[in-house]
Amino acid sequence: MTGETDHALRGDYSRMRPDYTVDQDWDAYTPEQHELWRRLYRRQMSLVPRYACREFQESLAAIDIAGAIPRFELVNRKLGSATHWQLVAVPGLLPDLMFFEHLANRRFPVTVWIREPAEFDYIVEPDIFHDFFGHVPMLFNPVFADYMQACGRGGLKAQALGAIEMLSRLYWYSVEFGLIETPQGPRAYGAGILSSGGEITYSVDSPDPNRIGFDLLRIMQTRYKIDTFQETYFVIRDFGELFEATAPDFTPYYEQLRGREPHAASAVLATDRVLHRGAHPARAA
Ligand code: PHE
Ligand code: CO
Repeated sequence: MTGETDHALRGDYSRMRPDYTVDQDWDAYTPEQHELWRRLYRRQMSLVPRYACREFQESLAAIDIAGAIPRFELVNRKLGSATHWQLVAVPGLLPDLMFFEHLANRRFPVTVWIREPAEFDYIVEPDIFHDFFGHVPMLFNPVFADYMQACGRGGLKAQALGAIEMLSRLYWYSVEFGLIETPQGPRAYGAGILSSGGEITYSVDSPDPNRIGFDLLRIMQTRYKIDTFQETYFVIRDFGELFEATAPDFTPYYEQLRGREPHAASAVLATDRVLHRGAHPARAA
């Protein structure tokens, strides 16, 4: 999703098809770019066993992406037979409608370019490492795969109802920054966390942010930060809960919430199931 981009996008949009897809052109990646991928992969893999949810780890084990920037074609064979999803190559961020249209058809847009070495720890726009490492393993999980398609269909519907902002908050706090409860404590399933060297430990271990039980309407009226670590993470009990809570028609929810002042990203409400109240929810970076 584009989110609120107020700067020029970085990718090369000059050669795309009308649906914003391009060829991956795998042969054009340089040895240095493959080496950067390997470094990013190794760093994240030193953290994944401790911080990522089991479902992510199981799927990651089924795809071989340690040695080089992956070829979408090869992964697509496995992904197609696992959950009928396909990856499509794109120049970068897409307009919301185009993005949701792909998801609604079980196509996941993956950015073709990789960050510069100086951006090892932090990147403003999602690159291939975020899109691939963070999102693709979860697409192998059948329940999550269906949830992603529902997000796409829900996005198209929200667009028609003028409710994209509310849908985007749900997407943000689940697909990008979701945590899941386990007997060992919270673990990451959101791609923005899973692909980040800093936030993967912060989201799970830090006393600073709030960790609050998943609550659909609450999430749809909560602001989020796009340029710092999150001040609040919402925690699901399992993927069934996420899928079932979001299955109803959102039309009456949107009507109910429309015009209400959204909660701050750091808010803790009396009605929240508070798993952890943040010590310094406002000063993350
Ligand atoms: N049930 C939602 C609707 O009717 C669609 C949706 C499902 C949105 C799952 C997001 C996630 O709009
Ligand atoms: Co993402």
